[in-house]
Amino acid sequence: MHKSFFIETYGCQMNVADSELVTGLLTSHGYVPAERMESADAIFVNTCAIREHAEEKVHSRLGVFHKIKRERPNVLIGVLGCMAQNLKNDLLENKPYVDVILGPDSYRDLPEILSRGNAQKHIVDTKLSRFEVYDDLFPSRNEGINAWISIMRGCDKFCTFCIVPFTRGRERSRRVESIVREARKAITDGFVEITLLGQNVNSYHAEDQSFPDLLAAVAEIPGLRRLRYTSPHPQDITMELIEVMGAYDTICNSIHFPLQSGSDRILKRMNRSYTRDHFLKMADVLRTRLPGIGISTDIIVGFPGESENDFQDTLSVMESIQFDSAYTFKYSPRPYTKAAEYDDQIPEALKSERLDQLIALQKKHTLERNQAHVGSIEKVLVEKESKRSPDQWAGRTDSNKWVIFNKEETRIRDIIDVKIIGATGVTLHGQVV
Ligand code: 5AD
Ligand code: SF4
Repeated sequence: MHKSFFIETYGCQMNVADSELVTGLLTSHGYVPAERMESADAIFVNTCAIREHAEEKVHSRLGVFHKIKRERPNVLIGVLGCMAQNLKNDLLENKPYVDVILGPDSYRDLPEILSRGNAQKHIVDTKLSRFEVYDDLFPSRNEGINAWISIMRGCDKFCTFCIVPFTRGRERSRRVESIVREARKAITDGFVEITLLGQNVNSYHAEDQSFPDLLAAVAEIPGLRRLRYTSPHPQDITMELIEVMGAYDTICNSIHFPLQSGSDRILKRMNRSYTRDHFLKMADVLRTRLPGIGISTDIIVGFPGESENDFQDTLSVMESIQFDSAYTFKYSPRPYTKAAEYDDQIPEALKSERLDQLIALQKKHTLERNQAHVGSIEKVLVEKESKRSPDQWAGRTDSNKWVIFNKEETRIRDIIDVKIIGATGVTLHGQVV
């Protein structure tokens, strides 16, 4: 019998939420989380397959687990999540020390698997479900400020670069009541911020309710101080959604708005279903209707066939919008995806060169956007101690910017007025008013 377990998590917030779900499931069956993996009876790694780099990291961690297994042969090693789906054959052939491989829709099997001890080895279940949303399970959360709540699973958009529709399967949404119940419980447990999560949150649809309906229902829960959500698809950002965002003080004034590319030709090849023009217009509407909104984005460089002109189109969209922050990636060919088969792949050196240019431009924009806040007073939620000094807090503005300031008389979870006195790179510096 494996009594204690340890989960190491890679990848997106959805994986963090899934690990909390698994922890909740296992603890409700009497298993206990181990402080360190060295003392755990079972070690799980919750994996990510979005880019090759993410997979490499997991492979190197598996090397470490292998060493532990040699020292303690009874320890159970499990691979969970997106890579399980994708690499089960490789894992079975080349990494026999992995005992259990479970895809993202198979976590309910875990308590039973652990109860079997080592009698049965090599349990593999990577079937994807059209229905599983883990509706009745309560996640076990550690951190006390923000609770991640998964509102939907899977994705049906099939962007040609993305492996998610293959690793996480079809799109399905949880019912509003179930999400609201989980949100109420999180607030009772002391969380003050909620982030609604989905691969494609604004495709949310349950019975007659759409994403703006859900957002409004959660925003009204008494005791909730801040509500965020991620990630939306630009095509599904509607006027109704923007109105709901403006109507509730609890809904934070920030949005993740993933561009991917600024070239119409590349967007089409990516199957992104919006044009550069539509994206620019929506950014304009967001900034006009929700003044002060923080806009972050995702951008890929070196997608197959990306010419110098296409790349310049991406830079010019960045220049027009001036994103507050950006996650930037070199295109990484993924198995099963359409783009991996395109025959005009871009050389690695050119991808790196473009990425460097993109990062430099974004750095400039981030600094300029942050400097524009100097002198203003922001509402900041006190979240944690600053890494630099025990006398300082780190907290976020409504528009999702980190601010560092002296603690004064304030406490974690307070929402306070902070005067911004400086901006360096991605962080703001402030003074409690
Ligand atoms: N290569 C590079 N970046 C990718 N992303 C998704 N798939 C790939 C890929 N194959 C990026 C997209 C997405 C973010 C989560 O990861 O920008 O929005
Ligand atoms: Fe991947 Fe596109 Fe779905 Fe996002 S919307 S998860 S990028 S397929």
